Amino acid sequence: MVQALEKNSVVAVIGSGAMGSGIAQVAAVAGHTVKLFDTRPEAVDKALAGIGQALARLVEKGRMGAAEADLARERVHAMRALDDAKDAALVVEAVVEDLDVKRTLFAQLEEVVGPDCILATNTSSISVTAIGAMLQRPERLVGMHFFNPVPLMALVEVISGLATDKTVADTVYATAAAWGKNPVHAKSTPGFIVNRVARPYYAEALRLLLEQAADPATIDAVMRDCGGFRMGPFELMDLIGHDVNYSVTQSVFNAYYGDPRFAPSVVQQELVNAGFLGRKTGRGFYRYDDGAVLPQAHAEAMQAAPAQVRVARPGTHAVLDALEARLRAAGIDVTAADGDAGPALYADGAAIHLTDGRSATRRACDDGRPDTIVFDLLLDPAKATRIALARADQCGDAAWSGAVALFQQAGFTVTRLDDVPGMAVMRTVAMLANEALDAVNQGVCSAVAVDIAMQKGVNYPRGPLAWADGIGLRHVFTVLANLGAAYGEDRYRVSPLLRRKLAADPDGARIHA
Ligand code: NAI
Repeated sequence: MVQALEKNSVVAVIGSGAMGSGIAQVAAVAGHTVKLFDTRPEAVDKALAGIGQALARLVEKGRMGAAEADLARERVHAMRALDDAKDAALVVEAVVEDLDVKRTLFAQLEEVVGPDCILATNTSSISVTAIGAMLQRPERLVGMHFFNPVPLMALVEVISGLATDKTVADTVYATAAAWGKNPVHAKSTPGFIVNRVARPYYAEALRLLLEQAADPATIDAVMRDCGGFRMGPFELMDLIGHDVNYSVTQSVFNAYYGDPRFAPSVVQQELVNAGFLGRKTGRGFYRYDDGAVLPQAHAEAMQAAPAQVRVARPGTHAVLDALEARLRAAGIDVTAADGDAGPALYADGAAIHLTDGRSATRRACDDGRPDTIVFDLLLDPAKATRIALARADQCGDAAWSGAVALFQQAGFTVTRLDDVPGMAVMRTVAMLANEALDAVNQGVCSAVAVDIAMQKGVNYPRGPLAWADGIGLRHVFTVLANLGAAYGEDRYRVSPLLRRKLAADPDGARIHA
């Protein structure tokens, strides 16, 4: 097994901005002597002061001993010239995101460092292969992609370019692990893992808004309370900044030669046009000026309980099973029904299905049953505080009220989404899993790596592939196929790996063993 770098070896960090100072702090806490450089000496001074303050806060919060913090702080030194990197075992570059600047810097470093020194770039969007191409020894250049804020975010994507030596990537992987991080290996491809696989989280939300499924506050609440995501997509985009988020989307879209999967949204473009960049400008999807009131998510008024509740379960379905258990626990008498329309709950006249990617209106037409209602995916049906429903255009008011009341009785806040195919959580999770499957299928990373990356890099409540296993791969396939049929767009094409898994084992296919 490849070993991590020696604990007390020298790590040079070039670029002392937000990322460089965080990387320096983490390396110093792990025991390395750290040398910090920047073309602006004042940036180094600011970083050193910032690291001191960050360590002091850790001591205050009881997360680190005072002596340990003092030692870590003493290990970080200002480096006033690149020549001082000559004894480094590892150089991590975190300068501006510009290929020429990075290439020039690494060419200079090659003249300075010893033959065994590993050169790492923290680039988030430039090809590691391209950065290394001009080097005398491109095999020792690797991506070491940290996430912001570095001391808090556990993920490190270890990116191999075409020329990167496997031992170099393995050493950086082991070193990141020794620093307390969760490293994953990935191939140098546009967006690497996280910035590629996360695109649907924003794209599907923007599409839902474009199609007036609901307002941002309602969609955010559904993604948090039903999907278990820590932040809704709109509040998250407001935090990231629409200029940054839109430009990452554009760069991934262009890098994949205009693949419609990654198409940017005119909704976000207009925010950028307006200068409504999010929190940092006081306005994005939400307003942040003094006295601004955050809009409330939509919730249905309380309704009278339905007289009769039935469940039809041809075969089992994990989400429906868990929901039924919650209804029973709430004291609702659930009797059995026959299941010629697939798994469903029936409240008085309403047929209530987990969304399968068809709109309720489409499904009502297909089933010949006007009173059709669909509900969105729940991360944990036993604990979710909210459920999102959509009603068919043909659905009567009495059936709708009965369905609303049923879930209210079980303790849910009921939120109505307009009848868009696949609703919010389901279509987002299906598209995240689909993108993750493509990344795996194209050899970018392993299935285990993609799930770790999305949980540790962007705090998703579950890895998209483990989540797809939980929903059932067949259902995920159906959702994607129905979205494809509803929109007639290549954007919703099903990953070849998903098709292959289902062909091999139609009922029991799983991604993770
Ligand atoms: P930043 O703007 O906060 O810091 C960059 C620093 O590099 C500045 O202090 C600048 O003076 C210095 N610099 C510029 N050219 C230099 C050179 N030739 N030699 C030495 N120092 C130089 O930028 P930030 O956010 O820390 O990003 C740095 C790198 O990390 C970029 O490649 C970025 O794409 C990547 N990254 C950023 C993330 C973020 O969330 N901010 C996340 C992951 C990666």
